[in-house]
Amino acid sequence: MIKRPIHLSHDFLAEVLDKDSIAVDATMGNGNDTVFLADLAKKVYAFDIQEQAVQKTSERLAQLGLNNVELILAGHQKVDAYVSELIRAAIFNLGYLPSADKSVITKPDTTLIAIEKILAQLEVGGRVAIMIYYGHEGGDMEKDAVLDYVQQLDQTVFTAMLYQPLNQINTPPFLVMIEKLR
Ligand SMILES: C[S@@+](CC[C@H](N)C(=O)[O-])C[C@H]1O[C@@H](n2cnc3c(N)ncnc32)[C@H](O)[C@@H]1O
Repeated sequence: MIKRPIHLSHDFLAEVLDKDSIAVDATMGNGNDTVFLADLAKKVYAFDIQEQAVQKTSERLAQLGLNNVELILAGHQKVDAYVSELIRAAIFNLGYLPSADKSVITKPDTTLIAIEKILAQLEVGGRVAIMIYYGHEGGDMEKDAVLDYVQQLDQTVFTAMLYQPLNQINTPPFLVMIEKLR
């Protein structure tokens, strides 16, 4: 069956991850992406601004016996204060955490700072996956800001791709994929 954007985001990152690599989950939430990255990478740094996300993800990791993750209760825009190594792969799931306070959403300004910092710290050959959910209030603005930013990346340094449902009703999430070339 054709892949959903969320599944392609994982496949895209899995292709470059190995047990020497550093990965970043920029939006930890319930920890789905954190667990996925922790299975494949040497070390994962996971960020969220909600205590609930850190709690939930910490429990999941403990149940699975995964101890290569640093859970950081801080905004992803501060990524450079916590991660000093080069990054092989990073993922963003923008929007709100369905099981929590829906008014806590990712915001264009801080999202762009985080993307910019992560791209600057990305290894050559490293990849970033950005899942864009935009059905909520403010989501459209964030979607446009991210697309504008990614579209102006230097094509000699980054390749950027879009994977988006075309005939689905409502506002299905879609995927932006970026790879660093040099
Ligand atoms: C769509 S959810 C992430 C879902 C998550 N990947 C999962 O597997 O459950 C978006 C998350 O981003 C978090 N968030 C909002 N602003 C943030 C920021 N500046 N830095 C880091 N996380 C942020 C929210 O608290 C929320 O948990």
